[in-house]
Amino acid sequence: MNNALIARIKTLSAEFAPEIIQDRQHLHANPELSFKEYNTAKYVAQRLRSFGIEPQEGVAETGLVAHIEGKNPSSKTVALRADMDALPIKEENDVPYKSKVDGVMHACGHDVHTSSLLGTAKILNKIREEFEGTVKLIFQPGEELIPGGASLMIKDGALESPKANNIFGQHVQPFLPVGKVGFREGMYMASADEIYVTVKGKGGHGAMPDNNIDPVVITAHIIVALQQIVSRVANPKTPTVLSFGKIIAQGATNIIPNEVKLEGTFRTLDEKWRATAHEKMKKMAEGIAEAMGGSCDFKILNGYPFLKNEPQMTNRAKLAAIDFLGEENVVDLDIWMAAEDFAYYTQSTDACFYRLGVRNEAKGIVSSVHTPTFNIDETSLEVGSGLMAWLAINELHSNV
Ligand code: NI
Repeated sequence: MNNALIARIKTLSAEFAPEIIQDRQHLHANPELSFKEYNTAKYVAQRLRSFGIEPQEGVAETGLVAHIEGKNPSSKTVALRADMDALPIKEENDVPYKSKVDGVMHACGHDVHTSSLLGTAKILNKIREEFEGTVKLIFQPGEELIPGGASLMIKDGALESPKANNIFGQHVQPFLPVGKVGFREGMYMASADEIYVTVKGKGGHGAMPDNNIDPVVITAHIIVALQQIVSRVANPKTPTVLSFGKIIAQGATNIIPNEVKLEGTFRTLDEKWRATAHEKMKKMAEGIAEAMGGSCDFKILNGYPFLKNEPQMTNRAKLAAIDFLGEENVVDLDIWMAAEDFAYYTQSTDACFYRLGVRNEAKGIVSSVHTPTFNIDETSLEVGSGLMAWLAINELHSNV
């Protein structure tokens, strides 16, 4: 532990907090959808230049990469990542910085991640004489949309020149009170695949089922049977989720339709099982449809892979967070079956994805992410920007 450096970072994060809050409010008021973050990228570039950091723009079209060199810059490189895209949600918060774009909102806190990383960059640039190695800043597009901006940033070389030895990502967590952060070593988040099924039969009058092949009944059988992939086929020690949230049968009380559309999500934490499950689900659905006289077109769109935090690096980060925030403010996280494109970085290099508390019940800030009333306690920005600076330095100075 380096108490003097922690104190210095805390002083700077407190000093910069007002302008980081301004950055967040600017980004929040001007959200852009996935892969359309042109103005956001321009804003980030202009802010980095005002700190004296020259970014590389246009990485994966709307992403940016920048470097802050400390002493002995080639000794080690730690990457820090923020995502920049917003969601197609109409904001319902009544705040001065409410979204100015109808139907688009920063409802997953990516405005917080981006502004917090700007704060971290400003802090690290100010104290670059006090650490060894290089910090790589990654501002990426399109976290919310397949194929995920992370995969495109990696393809465009964001983790190279200089090669990142490891990477940190931070995400808001509305269940965690402001001032606290959460870590989990190892498996943390799920792979998530989209399932699109069309069940075909033969429509007709509802009074004459013997003349038809009812795709509604076939679909009902398929939905129930597929749950056995989760309950009977999956290893009970491997978390697996199969949920169908959309079913469309365009018939009526007395009309059997020709076909039914079914859409769902499949999530798990094991790549081998993920591939096996895809095959088994397809086979089971097609077999049931065929046995009942119909047919079935079963498509799976592969989403993000599972997210695994490198255990030793995550443990070092957790201990560093305890030094920075106190033991009472650092919690252990449980597995979460949501998905996140940060998973691509975890497959490319050692990685740690952790959570920043933003909840404040006294102020009524309790809404979940991806809702029209999601918001944060903005004092979390001071915590987030300072902690990430300390985690980066701690990792650069660790002898691994
Ligand atoms: Ni998010």
